[in-house]
Amino acid sequence: MITEKKAAELESVQMLGLKLPTDPRWVRIAEKDLEEILTDHAYCEQKAAMSCISLISRFPEYEKLVDELSPIVTEEWGHFRLVLAEMKKRGYQLGRQRKDEYVNELRSFMRTGIHREEKLLEELLCFGLIEARSCERFRLLSLHIAEEELKGFYHRFMVSEAGHYVLFLDLARTYFGKEKTEKRWKEFLDFEAKIMEKMELRADRMH
Ligand SMILES: [Fe+2]
Ligand SMILES: [Fe+2]
Repeated sequence: MITEKKAAELESVQMLGLKLPTDPRWVRIAEKDLEEILTDHAYCEQKAAMSCISLISRFPEYEKLVDELSPIVTEEWGHFRLVLAEMKKRGYQLGRQRKDEYVNELRSFMRTGIHREEKLLEELLCFGLIEARSCERFRLLSLHIAEEELKGFYHRFMVSEAGHYVLFLDLARTYFGKEKTEKRWKEFLDFEAKIMEKMELRADRMH
């Protein structure tokens, strides 16, 4: 489990490895309609839980993966419930799920027609990257959102997603070695920066 101190070290864009920081105007745009951004956030957590379940069922013989991702499923579902509770408190309604342009773009970078084992590397790096970008966005919200109460709310997610980012990368290194993991990770980072560059800044999306 990652400590607060470690999370603080990881929270900067440089430490996460991301090539392109989020446009600082994003927080001002996002906080204008909290119901929208919280709805999108809730589904991000739900999808994170589902993704971990899917990895466990697709790669059951990878014991470390099963052991380490099982508690993450609970944690991500707990996140979903936290977001839901925050929405209820504010009298908001959970809206419908939107098309996840960012994740779809990212997944398009995953190599296809490869051996099942190789596919695992692609999945781990893709999820690691989603965690890293989410962590960076939560950090921005925790620092700059106008409503004081929400700063702590987002800080909690920032710490947790930093831990998940470390975990996915660690699993990749365990199964594929440091060199191979770093090489492919760099390619993913470059591609992610290109996605970020071309994606329009939206008020109703976490990414
Ligand atoms: Fe989460
Ligand atoms: Fe996460």
